[in-house]
Amino acid sequence: MMPIRWWMKWGISYAFSHLPHGRHLYEKMLRRFGELSQVSSSTRFRNAEVLLKMGRRWCGGVDGQHVVELGTGWVSAVPLGFGLAGARVDTFDISCLIADDLFLQVREVYRNRSEQLARASGTAPEKIHQRLQLIEQAHSFAEACQLLGGSYHAPFDTTTLPFKDGEVDMVISNLVLQCVPKDVIPLLLKESWRILKPGGIALHRIRMSDEYSPPGSGRNHLEYLKYSERIWNRWFNHSLKHINRLRAPQFLELFQEHGFDCLECIRKVDHQSIPHLQQLTLAPPFRRMSKEDVATTNINVVLRKIAIPEKKHSATTKGFNFFPLFPMDVPIMFF
Ligand SMILES: C[S@@+](CC[C@H](N)C(=O)[O-])C[C@H]1O[C@@H](n2cnc3c(N)ncnc32)[C@H](O)[C@@H]1O
Repeated sequence: MMPIRWWMKWGISYAFSHLPHGRHLYEKMLRRFGELSQVSSSTRFRNAEVLLKMGRRWCGGVDGQHVVELGTGWVSAVPLGFGLAGARVDTFDISCLIADDLFLQVREVYRNRSEQLARASGTAPEKIHQRLQLIEQAHSFAEACQLLGGSYHAPFDTTTLPFKDGEVDMVISNLVLQCVPKDVIPLLLKESWRILKPGGIALHRIRMSDEYSPPGSGRNHLEYLKYSERIWNRWFNHSLKHINRLRAPQFLELFQEHGFDCLECIRKVDHQSIPHLQQLTLAPPFRRMSKEDVATTNINVVLRKIAIPEKKHSATTKGFNFFPLFPMDVPIMFF
């Protein structure tokens, strides 16, 4: 079968976003040809393990922790993985995407993946088995969340979360922050800061590449940075997909401005795409960045809530400061 080209992927989602019942049609397409066609091989299970390892490294594990997830998505591997590892997970999404059959498939995968889950989280395998037994009779993801002490809320406006100040141990997100409109990110960060305990931890995995252009789609996954903001918003952002195109240093600066200390930033730079980037005319905001920063396609960050710093009235807080690309005191690793 001919691999799907980037413009087909874009064209279909754009067309669906303008049709009545377009979301339903889009889901049908994802189930037939896309990431929902084979939940058992979804990368989300490994993503969940990466986040659990981060939680283990920085908090000694998630068992007994109160965790809030932003952006549940379609495949509930992350919230269910945290719940099975012993966290009380309250998960929120602006859209209600999880269907019962998708939840049942995720639970089935975890039945066969409990050892990996135990290794990643540091939770005893027997405890994971007990929790799997507990959710055996659940028919929906919401029911499973409740049985594990948590909850699922969608659709929900995540800029106002139903928690008191300082009530939560950990805020997490997997592949969500790149999908949130630029003007909403500060509101999400403010709200995360408010609900976290002093010294509470936030774990975010962010992907910064063009989702229409995976390998085999006929174009490089960083070529989307050539469009002006106006063209990008007009033609590529719509009700079914929104990508803000922020780069790693911009995210790090936003975290810092909103009262988070970055304890760890593991980043992946796509060095192979750098020669391609050099031949492109990038849109103005990206031209001033180093090629390495533009070609950073993934970051996994561990943040700690600190007191909000005095508003700095430097140029860096008005726009983005592209030059000190990563604050010098952030430990940056590569994967
Ligand atoms: C690429 S999906 C990732 C979903 C999930 N975390 C996963 O690992 O599969 C991005 C998700 O972010 C959600 N989202 C976008 N903006 C949001 C917001 N402001 N608050 C909560 N969720 C949001 C979308 O509805 C979508 O489910």
